[in-house]
Amino acid sequence: MTASPTAQTYQAAYWNEAGGQAWVELQGLMDGLNKSVEEAVVETAFPGAGKAVVDIGCGAGATTLAMARRLGAGGEALGVDVSQPLLELARGRAEREGLANARFALGDAQTLDIGEGRFDAAMSRYGVMFFSDFDAAFANIRRGVKAGGKLAFACWRSPADNPLAAVPTKAAAHLLPPLPKPDPTAPGRFAFADPARVQGILERSGWSQIAIDRLDAPTPISLEDLTTLSLRMGPIAAALRDADATTAAKVREAVVKALEPHVENGIIPMVAGCWMVTARA
Ligand SMILES: C[S@@+](CC[C@H](N)C(=O)[O-])C[C@H]1O[C@@H](n2cnc3c(N)ncnc32)[C@H](O)[C@@H]1O
Repeated sequence: MTASPTAQTYQAAYWNEAGGQAWVELQGLMDGLNKSVEEAVVETAFPGAGKAVVDIGCGAGATTLAMARRLGAGGEALGVDVSQPLLELARGRAEREGLANARFALGDAQTLDIGEGRFDAAMSRYGVMFFSDFDAAFANIRRGVKAGGKLAFACWRSPADNPLAAVPTKAAAHLLPPLPKPDPTAPGRFAFADPARVQGILERSGWSQIAIDRLDAPTPISLEDLTTLSLRMGPIAAALRDADATTAAKVREAVVKALEPHVENGIIPMVAGCWMVTARA
C-alpha cells in the first residue's frame, strides 16, 4: 500500500519543478477546464458559513479561494501544498482578491501538522493521489478534522473512464523514446481508480461513513488547449524535455491529428470520469 520515500522525493521535486511550473503557466486553462469539479467539491465539502476547511494539495488555490468566498470573512480556508511555485501563485491570487480568510501552508500533507480537530471539513480536487503513504496521509488529515467533520474529494477513475487521456500518448509514442509502463498503484493521476483501494485506505486511516460515487464532470476543451495540455503535462511532456525542435513539431502534429476526430461543433466535449469520495472523521 505504501510507496518508497523515493517516490515522495520524486513527487515533491516534480511539483516544485517541471510539473508545478506547467500548472503555474497553465493555471487559467486548468481552472476553467476543472470548474465543474471545483463546484462539486466545494458544494459537497461546505460545512457552513464561518467554519474552517483544509484543502489538500490545493495547487494554485482555485478551490481554496472558492471555499473562502463561500465561508465568508468569519471562516477560514487553508490550502496545503508541497509546491512552492503553486502556493506563491495561490497567495498572490488571494491577496489580489482581498480574501484574507484564504491562507496557505507549504508542506507535505502526509506529515504537516495541521492541528488537531481544527477543521470542520477537509477537501481536495485532484490533490490526494500523489502520496507515498496513503494511510499515513489520510490519518494525518483526519487528525486535523473535528470528530464528525467531513471529508470530500474528487479523484480520477480509471484510464478506461477517461479515454481521451491516452489518445495523445498513443499518437506520439512512435516518435519518442519508450514511455515508462504506468503502474496503476504508484502515486499518480490514476492511483485512486480502484474504489476498493480508496475504501481500504479511508477505513484504515480511521474515516467512517465512506461513500464513493461516480462524478462525470463536463470538461469541454478546444483542440488547441487539449494539445497544449497533452504536450506540457504527463508522459509526453517528460519525453519531450530532451527532444529536438523537429521531433517536438512532429509530436505536436501527431497529437493534433489524433485529437481532431474528437472535435464536435468546434469543441472537444471531454468528460472527466471521477469519483466523488465523502467520509466522516
Ligand atoms: C493534480 S494537482 C491538483 C491541484 C489543485 N488541487 C487543482 O485542482 O488545481 C495535485 C497537487 O497536489 C500537490 N501534492 C502532491 N503531493 C503532495 C503532498 N504530499 N502534500 C501536499 N500536496 C501535494 C501538488 O503539488 C499539486 O499541486
